[in-house]
Amino acid sequence: MSSTAPTTVTRLADYRAPEFLIEKTQLTFELHEAYTDVSSQLTLVRNLQGSQAAHLQLHGEQLELLTLAIDNRMLTSKDYRTTPQNLTIYNVPERFVLHCTTRIYPEKNTALEGLYRSSGMYCTQCEAEGFRKITYYLDRPDVMSEFETIIIADEDAFSTMLSNGNCVSDTVKDGKRIVHWRDPFKKPSYLFALVAGNLACLEDHFTTQSGRQVLLQIYTAAKDQDKCHFAMQSLKKAMRWDEQTYGREYDLDRFMIVAVDDFNMGAMENKGLNVFNTSCVLAHPASTTDAAFRRVEGVIGHEYFHNWSGNRVTCRDWFQLSLKEGLTVFRDSEFSADMNSRAVKRIEDANVIRSVQFVEDAGPMAHPVRPESYMEISNFYTVTIYEKGAEVVRMLANILGPALYRQATDLYFNRFDGQAVTCDDFVQCMEEVSGKDLSQFRLWYSQAGTPHLQISDHYDAAHQQYSLTIRQHTPATPGQTDKKVLHIPFKIALYGNQAALPLVINGQNQGTETVLDICQNEQTIVFEQVTESPIPSLLRSFSAPVKISYDYQLPQLQQLILLDNDGFCRWDAMQNLMRMVLSKAIDGEDNHAEQAALIAVIKQLLTNHASMDAALLACMLSLPNSPYLASLYEKADPVAISQARTQLQDQIASELQTELLNCYQTLQDQVHGLTAPAMAARSLRNAALAYLLHIDEARYRELAQQQFAQADNMTDQYAALCALVHAEHATTMAQEALAAFYQQWQHEALVVNMWFQVQATRPWGDVLQTVQKLLTHEAFDARNPNKLRAVIAAFASQNFAQFHDKSGQGYQFLAEQIADIDQRNPQMASRLLTPLTHWHQFTDAHATLMRAALESLAQRELSKDVYEVVSKSLNQASH
Ligand code: BES
Ligand code: ZN
Repeated sequence: MSSTAPTTVTRLADYRAPEFLIEKTQLTFELHEAYTDVSSQLTLVRNLQGSQAAHLQLHGEQLELLTLAIDNRMLTSKDYRTTPQNLTIYNVPERFVLHCTTRIYPEKNTALEGLYRSSGMYCTQCEAEGFRKITYYLDRPDVMSEFETIIIADEDAFSTMLSNGNCVSDTVKDGKRIVHWRDPFKKPSYLFALVAGNLACLEDHFTTQSGRQVLLQIYTAAKDQDKCHFAMQSLKKAMRWDEQTYGREYDLDRFMIVAVDDFNMGAMENKGLNVFNTSCVLAHPASTTDAAFRRVEGVIGHEYFHNWSGNRVTCRDWFQLSLKEGLTVFRDSEFSADMNSRAVKRIEDANVIRSVQFVEDAGPMAHPVRPESYMEISNFYTVTIYEKGAEVVRMLANILGPALYRQATDLYFNRFDGQAVTCDDFVQCMEEVSGKDLSQFRLWYSQAGTPHLQISDHYDAAHQQYSLTIRQHTPATPGQTDKKVLHIPFKIALYGNQAALPLVINGQNQGTETVLDICQNEQTIVFEQVTESPIPSLLRSFSAPVKISYDYQLPQLQQLILLDNDGFCRWDAMQNLMRMVLSKAIDGEDNHAEQAALIAVIKQLLTNHASMDAALLACMLSLPNSPYLASLYEKADPVAISQARTQLQDQIASELQTELLNCYQTLQDQVHGLTAPAMAARSLRNAALAYLLHIDEARYRELAQQQFAQADNMTDQYAALCALVHAEHATTMAQEALAAFYQQWQHEALVVNMWFQVQATRPWGDVLQTVQKLLTHEAFDARNPNKLRAVIAAFASQNFAQFHDKSGQGYQFLAEQIADIDQRNPQMASRLLTPLTHWHQFTDAHATLMRAALESLAQRELSKDVYEVVSKSLNQASH
């Protein structure tokens, strides 16, 4: 590797308590057009838990140091030393006030970390280590301090000047506006926030369960004010939900949300002042799809829930990131399940785990929920930390049951309020309250990789016994070859011909559904009094993030698809059946029997669609996605996978066009408004439409064209656009619709992003050329993360067929883009790189081309972020 990036590794094992603590942090920001001066006054005290070092070492990056004083003595160059990462001050007292002034350049900040400008407004993003780009500080989450912030700007420059907590004063003096904020709650620096801009504000109020009134504010550009009502309703629902479900009440008098255009992530939970990507807060029926509405509700909930799980109780170090993110994702997921369809939410979550997290877990970036080392922490905001972390909390909640889980979280929040703690502290609360031994369960935090359960069974008619044998195995991951046996909560039911059978184990009646604690390498469970040969319904509600193999017969799957009362299992049985059809096609085997069984069961579902949840049926109609299919192979052929999927879609469409059309037409009157049934009807109707467009007939194209023109909501308009653009035989109509869509929505950045995305994900033709053209479009802006996601990420991670074109041009394109983006925004560059890290999944021809693209990156000068991912991906060869 010839690149010159630094390679310092941070290790959990090297964790040391901080040498100093900061009792009070007072910050003054003077905002000028070309630069910002930050003066800080830090009250530092030696930490008795530290090792009593004589020097104070602070973090600081890209700072111009203007002045430095201790108490009231100015320091000279002999008293301290600076490096690109640190400021070290020699021989400091036990307790003192450090005064420091630094100059920073927000207008030049393209990395969107620290203080930067987005569409003219100032905003901050400090998690994980961005605060050190604002001033010298102990920028680590176990240093918690009270913050006061003073913002000074020209009197008429900004209508809105915000920071965390409560506004103490807002005055004008000598042509300057001076706004003073104080946050009474101790917090780590990563939760600091500042915003200054000309913003409109939507206000509302919430009365907490103890009767306190909280002012709620959502700040946006004036033109977007009408798009904040849904976010406000979601916020109030989230506040109520957290009181009812976790007994957690909001603690400040004011809760603010600010929407910004340029944001690397979705949103950020800064204390009392959440900053949101516009894509996660703005919503209006005319311009927002149902999926985006649900995303807004979920993200609002997520960031709000962090006020307890993350802010009041925070992480000791960044290895504990899942302590706040895994727990908060579990909380937002349950919130969404309570507000919408629980089954659909569970299916969506399981699908992400399976098609994204399992892939990460099988590749060069695999890491445990609590990693042991990292080069760049920004690279560890992963599906493993978030989604697998949430599944681990879910398993704990299920093992304890609702009442004990609630007692355990109460204990956790109360015991550790105001502290920075570890994942182990969390598990210990679960243990203490339940009296259960969770020592084996703790391996879920330290062991990477996906456990695979091999399941076999035997029915003994003479003794009416059914036995199930489960063997578990976790494949090696980089640096972890010796895998231990995990504690896996495995929920099951047994289906007879008509319904679920009663379960009797060791003479004990268990009802019709039970959770088996799988704790051994191999375990056999015997069910008694089983009167007929049963169909096992396995891993119900996706009770653990594991892979399972069980050799189902076709009629068994059909049976589960039609009558299982667990929505996840119905969907999973359908995925299984579809997978059987597809694998045989991919392997060039005869799949007539499987295909006939699949078509028959879909026909039955469509014919009786009125008798089931339309949203669930819509989920069930979508084929297993390509990354998931690829993960089933040692060396997958991406071209064969894409072809098999398209062929099956064609086949389903042509054999079931009557049923699909019928379904489409009968739902016509049910798709208006924002109610749950209307959203469900839209999702099913649009799934039917997408299938119908696989048929090369004018009448179906006209159906889509009509829907596009007449839709009264974005879900239907966009679904029709996608159907047309993605249909191989609708080119003229697609071009017309694209032009009309842009014409109509060119002033709505979020909708323009959808317009980019639908083109970048077209599964046929020379999409790379289209993508390259989009990069030069007037509406494209390579500095805006949402635009990069809409074009480049959409192409590389949502357009499997095209990205994996056998020429390898897709790979080279991505590498070149990343090299360019890395100069400005390393976090974005590193995230966009993910699809290339999956090279190990593919046949040699593809893997070689993917590695070549990674190697071309390795030749360059890279950020730490991209360097870590590139080097780990290439080193896989030696594993
Ligand atoms: N704390 C994160 C945001 C964050 C992540 C900031 C990484 C800096 C670096 C926030 O709570 C979060 O997790 N946001 C998610 C959305 C959420 C619904 C999972 C995001 O931004 O994608
Ligand atoms: Zn979060």
